[in-house]
Amino acid sequence: MKVTVSRRAHFNAAHRLYKKDWSNEKNNTIFGKCNNPNYHGHNYELIASVTGEIDQETGFVIDVKILKDIIKNEVEDAFDHKNLNLDVSEFKSLNPTAENIAVIIHQKIKAKLEGHLDLEVTLYETSRNFVSYSGK
Ligand code: NI
Repeated sequence: MKVTVSRRAHFNAAHRLYKKDWSNEKNNTIFGKCNNPNYHGHNYELIASVTGEIDQETGFVIDVKILKDIIKNEVEDAFDHKNLNLDVSEFKSLNPTAENIAVIIHQKIKAKLEGHLDLEVTLYETSRNFVSYSGK
């Protein structure tokens, strides 16, 4: 019997989507306003969902306080009020699209979870645009 426990979190961050080796014209065509050289910000909403068996002693899949602390340490402290392109090492050479941010967040949280737990990450870049990654 597998149950999913979810925690919602939030961070603000700036980014710019572009590829160094493309012309300005091509970057503008592909990335539009997201290629603004002076960066732009988003209010990111994150939902981290952990799936596993219920522990017979505690009744928990995961103590949600542990999940909360992992998200704080791995995501909020690392990304909140940062420029993702300039301040976050994972995006030095990786375009900080919602897709790539979700993958990085998944890797960082998964590394801190007990091995038998599955993780799905949903990242809202706007209230209407969101991506999901479950490590597959
Ligand atoms: Ni953007």
